[in-house]
Amino acid sequence: MGATSACLSDKEEQASRLTKLTSVASEVGAEVMFRFLTVCPDAKSLFIHLDQSQGSPDLLAHGLKLMTAIGDGIKGLDNLSTLMTELTDLHTNKLKITSEQMEDLSCTILVTLARNCPAEFTPECHKAWKTYLCMLHDVLLSKRAETP
Ligand code: HEM
Repeated sequence: MGATSACLSDKEEQASRLTKLTSVASEVGAEVMFRFLTVCPDAKSLFIHLDQSQGSPDLLAHGLKLMTAIGDGIKGLDNLSTLMTELTDLHTNKLKITSEQMEDLSCTILVTLARNCPAEFTPECHKAWKTYLCMLHDVLLSKRAETP
């Protein structure tokens, strides 16, 4: 986490770049999920209880939860691991999500944002999102949640 924090040299500037794109969160969330389940079919079994077809109400609902959590994290960059304590426990300990799955989801988020917001998705914006998703990856798969 130290290294990724250091990458965010100007946190306020980065946060404002990231926040710009979260206004489209609900629309992109379902697309992220559909793309993710397409490129990472081994994750389908984790979402077996959801209708996984493109744009289904289930994917829209889960996509919104996903992007809302991402947006909340952006607002609390300095406090990310505390903010994500419950989600870390869920993803690390209960669901046992792998690093590879987390990377695939991050790539899918980048692709979806780039497709939906071509004008806003500048090189700086891409870099800020990449750095932030790296931080989230570290936090959500952090073993710290296992310590009582
Ligand atoms: C940026 C990374 C991620 C974020 C921000 C995130 C966020 C969330 C949120 C907010 C929830 C809902 C929790 C609740 O309802 O209390 C959730 C649930 C879940 N997540 Fe993630 N997640 C991420 C990555 C992943 C990945 C990579 C996978 C799978 C490979 C995954 C699998 C799941 C599953 C299976 C659930 C439970 C779904 C359900 O039963 O409805 N998540 N996640």
